[in-house]
Order: sequence, then structure tokens, then C-alpha cells
Amino acid sequence: MEDFGKVAAATAALRYVSNNMVIGLGSGSTANIFIEKLANRVKSEKMKIRCVATSISSKELGTKYGLNVVELDSVDTIDITIDGADEVDDDLNGIKGGGAALFYEKIVAKASDKNIWIVDSSKQSAKLGSFKLPIEVLPIGSAHVYRYLDTELGLHPTYRKNKDESLLTTDSNNFIIDVDISNVSDLYDLSNKLIKHVGIVEHGLFLDICDTLIVGDAPIQIKHRK
Ligand code: 5RP
Repeated sequence: MEDFGKVAAATAALRYVSNNMVIGLGSGSTANIFIEKLANRVKSEKMKIRCVATSISSKELGTKYGLNVVELDSVDTIDITIDGADEVDDDLNGIKGGGAALFYEKIVAKASDKNIWIVDSSKQSAKLGSFKLPIEVLPIGSAHVYRYLDTELGLHPTYRKNKDESLLTTDSNNFIIDVDISNVSDLYDLSNKLIKHVGIVEHGLFLDICDTLIVGDAPIQIKHRK
């Protein structure tokens, strides 16, 4: 079955959920599987949980399945967030934002006591960089940010586009510029440079954020950040 790894990882993540928790709902196809399974469990066990979404689409999906999706600012803390990832290394650092939801995903992750990523084995990597790093930028002045990424950092940027070639906009009405970080050796240094550069809203490097990684393909692997 094509999605076996994603389904197995999403199923395994259910064991971390208990009654009265606040749960962060990730975005993307693996997180969507988890959201449906979570809703089924909440219904069948009559659990009381509140959820905080990481995107408009995860909010809509959670609500459609009957989950109690509340605003981030209405909760003091999130107990756990279960999210997918685009690429993850042995230190559980990763790249996110393939679905353009990285900004909300990082805000929710940072507000969470524990972050669990659910992936299939295709997402594992010895060195991050096979997946292009998404960077969310303000539309105003984005051409200047693009030039910085291109000429000063040498990251071969490309604007993310829709099928009709228009520029993709995020849930916050920003643009995404994808860059190639395969030749970058110090990801912490890159993260600092990016976040300090005016016009960059957030980037998809998630360093020291994931606490537990569930790799769904058999035999299922559960790894914890050292
Ligand atoms: C969205 C994300 C997703 O978590 C990531 O793209 C993984 O998605 P999928 O589970 O569909 O492979 O970061 O911005």
C-alpha cells in the first residue's frame, strides 16, 4: 500500500494523546491521516481534547471531523503537536514547509511542550538538503530578498508558483522562495542569517524542535532527540 508508512506513523502517534490534552494539528498528507484517526478516537472514547491548527486546511479538516479546534491564543500551552516533515536527519532536525505552512507550523511547534513528527522512511536523510528549503517572505520587497538569497548566500532561489504560474501565497498572504541548501555545512548559521534578514518572515529549517520521530514503515522506528 502506497501510504503504509504514513498511516502506520499516524496510528502510532495516537498513543501519545490522552484525555484533556491540547493537541497541535500538523499540516500535510501525513498529518491529515493523523487528524482523521484522532477524531475517530476522540469520538469513540468520548475524550475531551482541544486542538490548535497549523494551517487553514488543518483547521478545516479538524473541524470537519468534529474536533474542537480553538485559537492558539486561547490556550496557555499545547501539550503535543503531531506534524509531518519533508526531510529529517539523525539529530531530528528537519525541513518543513513543503505544503507552505511552515510559519504557523513553527509558531505552534514553539508553543508546544512536545513535538512529534510522523514520517515514512523516504523522509530520512543523513544530511539535510535534498529537499529545497522553503523561506516565507513578505511580498513587499521580495525581489530584494530573492537577490540576497541568490547573490550573497548563493542558494539558487526560486519563487514557488501555482499551476497557472502565478506566485503561491501562504495562509498569511506571503510568498515562498525555495532555496538549495545542499552545500550548506552550518545550518544553525544559515538559520540565524535568514531570520535576521529583513523581509524574511520565517524559514522551514526546524532545528532542535522535534522531540520524537516516528518512522512508519515496518519495522516502525521511534527515535528521541538526544
Ligand atoms: C507543510 C509541511 C508538511 O508537514 C510536510 O510538507 C510533510 O507533508 P506530507 O506529510 O504530505 O509529506 O511541512 O508545510
